[in-house]
Amino acid sequence: MSTMAIPSLCLFLLFSLFIGQAVVQLEASHHVFQNLETSQPVSESEPYRTGYHFQPRKNWMNDPNGPMIYRGIYHLFYQYNPKGAVWGNIVWAHSTSTDLVNWTPHEVAIYPSQKSDINGCWSGSTTMLPPGRPAILYTGIDPNNKQVQNLAVPKNLSDPFLTEWVKSPRNPLMAPTVINQINSSSFRDPSTAWLGPDKIWRVIVGSQINHKGLAILYRSKNFVNWTEAKHPLYSLEGTGMWECPDFYPVATESVHGINTSKVGSSIKHVLKVSLDDTQHDHYTIGKYDIFTDKYAPDEGQTQSESGLRYDYGKFYASKTFFDNVKHRRILWGWINESSSQEHNIKKGWSGLQAIPRKIWLARSGKQLIQWPIVEIEKLRINPVHFPSKILEAGSVVEVKGITASQADVEVSFKIPKFEKVEVLDPSWTNPQLLCSQKGASVKGALGPFGLLVLSSKSLEEYTAVFFRIFKDHEKYVVLMCSDQSRSSLDATNDKTTYGAFLPVDPVHKKLSLRSLIDHSIVESFGGGGKACITARVYPTLAIDDAAHLYAFNYGTEKINIASLRAWSMKKAHVN
Ligand code: FRU
Repeated sequence: MSTMAIPSLCLFLLFSLFIGQAVVQLEASHHVFQNLETSQPVSESEPYRTGYHFQPRKNWMNDPNGPMIYRGIYHLFYQYNPKGAVWGNIVWAHSTSTDLVNWTPHEVAIYPSQKSDINGCWSGSTTMLPPGRPAILYTGIDPNNKQVQNLAVPKNLSDPFLTEWVKSPRNPLMAPTVINQINSSSFRDPSTAWLGPDKIWRVIVGSQINHKGLAILYRSKNFVNWTEAKHPLYSLEGTGMWECPDFYPVATESVHGINTSKVGSSIKHVLKVSLDDTQHDHYTIGKYDIFTDKYAPDEGQTQSESGLRYDYGKFYASKTFFDNVKHRRILWGWINESSSQEHNIKKGWSGLQAIPRKIWLARSGKQLIQWPIVEIEKLRINPVHFPSKILEAGSVVEVKGITASQADVEVSFKIPKFEKVEVLDPSWTNPQLLCSQKGASVKGALGPFGLLVLSSKSLEEYTAVFFRIFKDHEKYVVLMCSDQSRSSLDATNDKTTYGAFLPVDPVHKKLSLRSLIDHSIVESFGGGGKACITARVYPTLAIDDAAHLYAFNYGTEKINIASLRAWSMKKAHVN
């Protein structure tokens, strides 16, 4: 070893990583980040703090980053501001879990330390390099505020918690240049990469040119030298910046998840993009041709505002990963606040992650189904069961015996008679608008019926999650709504009402609804996960033990509750 090499060794402990044929030199990270943290603690008794949702102890959190399972341990990284409850100073915070319910925090995994990320470490994804070594591609903000893509790998693969990460000295691996004409302020959030049968890696990065959204495609033989493909994987005019693209296969004949690199028969592909313009996560189901490296949504699907959404409430910048132990694909999504910045600073935290959801292709092949991971059910206690019950017109029935501020409730309804059903006006094409115009207090025939959650005793405050049924020629149309307009007496919160059409036949099928209620969040799943709506609410009366749960029917027609089961939820150990 030459004497010249020794000082540089002291400065940058160098590691070697073998990726295919290439040997990559990596810089060690030994920085302790805790001293950058704000010191004021967050009160655990604060009424909007959740009991079983993922959140850091304090401060701002946005996108879930690089989720994975490694040696039986689930990892979640997330966009985090160590210095406050507003967005800024972004690093990758890190927690691990053995059950996706209880979480242990670790040191910040990735923070600005190189020229290529000195102004921020933004979103990205993990890829498992065969035979099982994780590699993170993430967006760095360089000294000129250009967005570039960087690589980091674990320092010690024998540590299942992967607490230390080292960055490639070759960073950035993908960058905007005069030649490639990539917009340097719209080039971010690399997806999980996939390996073709030709042994070439592919990854997509979100972008836009003018107002055309793009999933820019890069290819690499060794995960280090990346070349931009001549065409994007997919693009669409008029959709604006595509953030956090996610691209993965789904099985057509099974609910099991599949490895991101899998191609072949009995497989469809999903492309999800987070539309910056609308702050919604939209997906399409389609066909991916590994030879032309092009993706085409199936007929009737569009990667735009009018296309399918993972969630018709608050849910953004989501990311999936393949859990190869339980053979499932799991979806993480960021749930922002609906309260003012001033309020967020006062409470000292901002942002939640939705309960992770298992995600698979519906039998129809036309949409995805989502369901909370089964592990969350181990928090259920104090079960309450209503046998079948008639909900008379105008009735409200309390579900007693559970902690209604921290609960899980599953109900299914049966419609006895359809004669009086309202006719769907052909102009009622926007479900969110329809739910806002026909909120929970507007009487109909078949509906509104459903649940009043986080409700005060005398109904001054409640969040109404409910259905309405209409007739459209020979078909019935089911509308699912989450009406926040009465959720809080505090007028400063955003109380937008959300809605979705639910593709369920109410004549032959029961109409099911599940709501996960956790102090300031309500995640609702209609039709067994065919439509999901997440809301953030901040009751002033319906807090802790003063919160109630009701089933209601404000329509003129009777509705049957076929079954209702509810549980209090135990507190999870979260960070
Ligand atoms: C999405 C996003 C990403 C970006 C990150 C920055 O919420 O804007 O595009 O990488 O957040 O925190």
